[in-house]
Amino acid sequence: MIKTNKNGNKLCLGTVQMGQQYGIKNELGRKPRLEESFLVLQAAVDSGIDCFDTASVYGDAEEILGGFGISRFPVKVISKMRAGGINGKNEVIEELCISLNRLHLKSLYGYLLHSAKDLYSPEILRGLTKAKEAGLTEHIGVSIYEPEDALYAVQSHIIDIIQIPYNVFDQRLDKTDFFEMAEQNHIQVYARSAFLQGLLLMEPDALPSNLQTAQSYLKEFREICEQYHFSVLEASLLYSYCHPGISYVVFGVDTVEQLKSNLNIIEKSDDFCLCYKKLYGAFYNIERKLIVPSLWNI
Ligand SMILES: NC(=O)c1ccc[n+]([C@@H]2O[C@H](COP(=O)([O-])OP(=O)(O)OC[C@H]3O[C@@H](n4cnc5c(N)ncnc54)[C@H](OP(=O)(O)O)[C@@H]3O)[C@@H](O)[C@H]2O)c1
Repeated sequence: MIKTNKNGNKLCLGTVQMGQQYGIKNELGRKPRLEESFLVLQAAVDSGIDCFDTASVYGDAEEILGGFGISRFPVKVISKMRAGGINGKNEVIEELCISLNRLHLKSLYGYLLHSAKDLYSPEILRGLTKAKEAGLTEHIGVSIYEPEDALYAVQSHIIDIIQIPYNVFDQRLDKTDFFEMAEQNHIQVYARSAFLQGLLLMEPDALPSNLQTAQSYLKEFREICEQYHFSVLEASLLYSYCHPGISYVVFGVDTVEQLKSNLNIIEKSDDFCLCYKKLYGAFYNIERKLIVPSLWNI
């Protein structure tokens, strides 16, 4: 049985796609127009999604959420502090206030460090703690890329939320005690990259030249999906969704259609058990250059 929010899901809508052109596949071929983003946000709220992920560096995503009037709804908004140039604890607060201003909110549900490097700065951590004490954010956290940083954060006794990359091809944290420690320390785990920015959904023959080594993995993934009668889209989302250690899956869409299709997919989670077991551990040793999008160079 999957632990969900009161509306029966554990989906958090990401907003990088609204603020800037994004993703490897990008079927829309452009950033959604403002009214298209508003339609996606409205459809998300109407469908019971109660969590939204943004960041100060996602183009104008924070302004879009503010302009939409996200404050009208009883939802969780998580934003992130930009990396670099912020050193003192008061600067952390100032930066958070800039985000609140753009979002037209008085406080956040979560304020995360966008760079795990800042996790190692006592002054920045003091700033986050001060922000929480001042009621500017209910929770504080960090977004990580590397397992070592996740393992450091989960034992920090300061952090409430950790956002991790996690998907069928990126099961690196399953090889560690991370999920057990997060549960013991009451830390919420938000997993992004369920579709690996769209790579998992691509036809193996349509990969850009420097991602050709992903072809055999994609073929194997497709074979498993076919065997269990799931599409790659379904299996990608359900794989992250069904992980017991993941509190919320942060996913991105460009259109209302994609949002609705993803909401339909999670209805199938009870039937996904066998496919989940087959996929869990199946892609344990994929090269880092395929699962870390910043190394793609495309
Ligand atoms: N460091 C960080 O903290 C960090 C980094 C990255 C992202 N994020 C957050 O995570 C969110 C998700 O980003 P992600 O990188 O994890 O991307 P993702 O969710 O793995 O992939 C999103 C892409 O998948 C495709 N997609 C989604 N639903 C689909 C559907 N039903 N049918 C067809 N295609 C579908 C869309 O690509 P197409 O454009 O190809 O259609 C969409 O742009 C972001 O919005 C952001 O909030 C955080």
